[in-house]
Amino acid sequence: MQITSINGQLCAQDSATISVTDHGFLYGDGVFEGLRFYKNRILKLSAHMDRLDDSARALAIDLPMSREAIEEALNQVVSESPHEDGYLRLIVTRGEGPLGIDPRQCRTGNVIIISDQLAMVSDEVRKQGARLIIASTRRLAGDQLDSRIKSLNYLNQIMARIEANTAGADEAVVLNQQGFVAEGTADNIFAVKNGCLMTPPVTDGALDGITRGIVLEIADKLSIPVKEHSLTVYDLFTAEECFLSGTGAELIPVREIAGRALNRPDDPMFKKIAGYFEEELGKDTLFH
Ligand SMILES: Cc1ncc(COP(=O)(O)O)c(C=O)c1O
Repeated sequence: MQITSINGQLCAQDSATISVTDHGFLYGDGVFEGLRFYKNRILKLSAHMDRLDDSARALAIDLPMSREAIEEALNQVVSESPHEDGYLRLIVTRGEGPLGIDPRQCRTGNVIIISDQLAMVSDEVRKQGARLIIASTRRLAGDQLDSRIKSLNYLNQIMARIEANTAGADEAVVLNQQGFVAEGTADNIFAVKNGCLMTPPVTDGALDGITRGIVLEIADKLSIPVKEHSLTVYDLFTAEECFLSGTGAELIPVREIAGRALNRPDDPMFKKIAGYFEEELGKDTLFH
């Protein structure tokens, strides 16, 4: 049985409820984190808590529980899980309030933790590589809704995801308002050219991904040259390799972008990084 935590109280997931007047439900007024646990330990918990705190601050949401209490609730859900590896969804809503968007009318927010076995792509795609399209839906500009805020409003990403589905692709690359590559719909993007690992800066419209950070950490440890700079679709089309990173996605190799097959289908750089990531999961280094 999957267990959910609502404001620190555990209950069976299929009977967990929140109010229909919660502004998280009514207006997407809230923030969230997606976390993974491996062998009952949560990966990069403190980085996720820092990002949750930043997202909440940016939206002027007061976290209704202390950081320690939220961390304890997350660990409780992990220890109640029937699986030793899994995915957690931590949601903090603005809370219940009258209809009308004014956040001042809301009572205390709700803290909800859901546990799941999330697989973003099939094993086949993970092995063969994902096929991407370039979405016509653009990422909102930083002065419209900053991409670093992990809010409950994912309509921009969902619009791009619908385009990928319609095209029969596995994921969509989303560009920013200037036409530079931002990220995928729920993952960050990396490209490899001449042995150098490239990824757009998060200020180009990406979420500051925790897995992105892990990849950069691994590249540093393996002395792989990294360039964090703006990328165009040309950089993707002409890349030797490309891959996606995310807590839900983990690391997914890409084989094709908008009909162009990538140059190095054997993905040596991806294999090196993904292999290191896999090995490190068995140790302590990534869990601080
Ligand atoms: C829009 C978006 N970009 C990137 C990511 C990857 O971030 P992380 O590695 O922290 O999961 C996510 C993950 O949920 C996401 O929703």
